[in-house]
Amino acid sequence: MAAMWSPIIGLLLLLLQLAPSSSSYIQLPLEGSVHPVGYFYVTMNIGGKPYSLDIDTGSNLTWLECKYPGHQCNTCKGPHRPYEPNRHHKKVMCGDQFCTDLHKDLPHYPEPRCYTQHPHECHYHIQYVGGTSSEGFIVNDTVSVDVLSPSLPSRRVQIFFGFGCGCNQKPLKDSPVDGVLGLGMGKVGFVAQLKAHNVIRKDIIGHCLSIDGGGYLFVGEHHLPDHITWAPMRKYSHYYTPGPAQLLLGGEKIGSQKMVVFDSDKQDMQGINSVWVFQVKRSVSGSLQRVTDHALPVCWKGPFQSIQLVKRKFKPLALEFTNKVMHIPPENYLALTGEKNVCLGILQTPKAGGQMIIIGDVTMQDLLVIYDNEQKRVGWISKQCKHTLEIPSINAL
Ligand SMILES: *[C@@H]1O[C@H](CO)[C@@H](O)[C@H](O)[C@H]1NC(C)=O
Ligand SMILES: *[C@@H]1O[C@H](CO)[C@@H](O)[C@H](O)[C@H]1NC(C)=O
Repeated sequence: MAAMWSPIIGLLLLLLQLAPSSSSYIQLPLEGSVHPVGYFYVTMNIGGKPYSLDIDTGSNLTWLECKYPGHQCNTCKGPHRPYEPNRHHKKVMCGDQFCTDLHKDLPHYPEPRCYTQHPHECHYHIQYVGGTSSEGFIVNDTVSVDVLSPSLPSRRVQIFFGFGCGCNQKPLKDSPVDGVLGLGMGKVGFVAQLKAHNVIRKDIIGHCLSIDGGGYLFVGEHHLPDHITWAPMRKYSHYYTPGPAQLLLGGEKIGSQKMVVFDSDKQDMQGINSVWVFQVKRSVSGSLQRVTDHALPVCWKGPFQSIQLVKRKFKPLALEFTNKVMHIPPENYLALTGEKNVCLGILQTPKAGGQMIIIGDVTMQDLLVIYDNEQKRVGWISKQCKHTLEIPSINAL
């Protein structure tokens, strides 16, 4: 009897391992900080080597600094050597489905779809809001992730995935990262590919950026705390958004309603018109002295040892969505500079045109932010994001 059953049990076990358990997820530790690093990034094993990638919920494609055979590449200097596709790697061709999906996921990709200079290759060009850009070709190589679920031990999974071999980046400069991890809602996004390979079952992304630097990122079904504030997710100009909101400073309305987008890559809230900057300046004018600091445009004179010591002088900010409120205490809109001055963690890009408020890294510190693409909702809750977990993914690199 036992002998007869064992192959069946063996098969069942195999099936159990292949099918994603209902609550599988991957969790990656984050490194970096708002200041001085300016990025939050994960280190992942791609094609057998580690690469540090800036996490970006505001874009779809993942790409790495890369040397592409037969092309003259202008790469930035990142922490690791540029990725080089090896002889065996699989190229993604212009006619492949992935390439068609990619060109749909890149909002301003020009026609014609196949790049004239190298018509067989799958070309991409991404222009980010901040003015930086990456250009190159899509390759297909392995990525290793450790999949976790409450009932099973963690297991290492290797999948093939499509990503950009970034051959021409602008501006050309040294960088603390080797590329970008695209966490947008597109088909070619990292999470959509993990889901397509059954590594995870649900397209849910969460990140917790620690105010002391570091934190963690998860994708899939992670245990979520109670009392999360959820807002329906809408789509606005390619971004994750809970919709329009009214900005309040110390309970007083500032300006008119604006669209709010969540973008983990943008360091600062942008596009908030100067009315709000003016109001903040006015509200602290009696107690703090303005100073010029090369790090950010609006600063007050320190030295301050921490934001905690000065935050009481600033009023809290809030974003009022339709019957939901996001509270932004001063520590989530202020930044301490290298010179120990305290500054508004806000930059206004002319491109954002004041039409949208980008909730970026400064504001998302010590906040667990969840992008639930299954139930089409965005959630947030305050949390201490400094993780003390021993995470296998990084040890195995
Ligand atoms: C990459 O190659 C693997 C293995 O041949 C294949 O299953 C997968 O679909 C390819 N992915 C892309 C994006 O081309
Ligand atoms: C990501 O891809 C989706 C689906 O094609 C698209 O709607 C969205 O605009 C893209 N997002 C960005 C930031 O390009």
